[in-house]
Amino acid sequence: MRQKLVAGNWKMHGNSQSIRELLAALTPAVAESAAEIAVIPPLVYVPLCVDLLAGSKVSVGAQTVSEQCDPGAYTGEVSAEMLADSGCHYVLVGHSERRSLYGENDALVAAKTEAALNAKVLPIVCVGETREQREAGDTLKVVGRQLDVVLATLKSGHEKITVAYEPVWAIGTGLTATPEQAQEVHAFIRTQLAAHSAELADTVRILYGGSVKAANAAELFAQPDIDGGLVGGASLDAEEFAAICNAIG
Ligand code: PGA
Repeated sequence: MRQKLVAGNWKMHGNSQSIRELLAALTPAVAESAAEIAVIPPLVYVPLCVDLLAGSKVSVGAQTVSEQCDPGAYTGEVSAEMLADSGCHYVLVGHSERRSLYGENDALVAAKTEAALNAKVLPIVCVGETREQREAGDTLKVVGRQLDVVLATLKSGHEKITVAYEPVWAIGTGLTATPEQAQEVHAFIRTQLAAHSAELADTVRILYGGSVKAANAAELFAQPDIDGGLVGGASLDAEEFAAICNAIG
């Protein structure tokens, strides 16, 4: 059985005061959740979150990582080793905002995934189509290519990745994929993993992301190939995020 995961991507939101309040409200509210839970704060707040969450069931992730493995002259970059050393359990790679705003392409996403695995930080590899790509009937082609590059690049550790299917048109828009639309793509991703190995298809979690909220979480999470959620906006509200975490059956 795959352990379901709900991860809250805070993006560039919060400050030390709001984070203290959020986590103080969140931790007791999710103590009984059947899901594994992670929060993914802006990088400078990782140590604060690691401290505040010590002894709780909530782990901490980072929003991006350098593809460079060795220390060196890479101003502004943070390595996967540094993330591991700071207590990060997970890291997002290939979030659509990194792809569209910061020019991250499939090869870079694959290199970042590899760097994370080398440092034993678990990568959450984000894939998803734009509205235009969906309307052109290219959803499975786009998602397939994004994931293929990662699977083909990794030398080992494929079973340690988590995939997040996040249709770009659903991120931050209030538009959610219907459970059927999401399940269709998740099932396709599962088939793609199975083409690599049956074990991989059984092991790798596939999260759904894109306007997940308390009101739609249970229905999404009930789909056979949806193993949890990657939650943006709704993860900034402790009560709402806890309700999403507690919607895991
Ligand atoms: P959203 O963001 O839940 O605000 O749509 C999801 C994400 O970007 O991971």
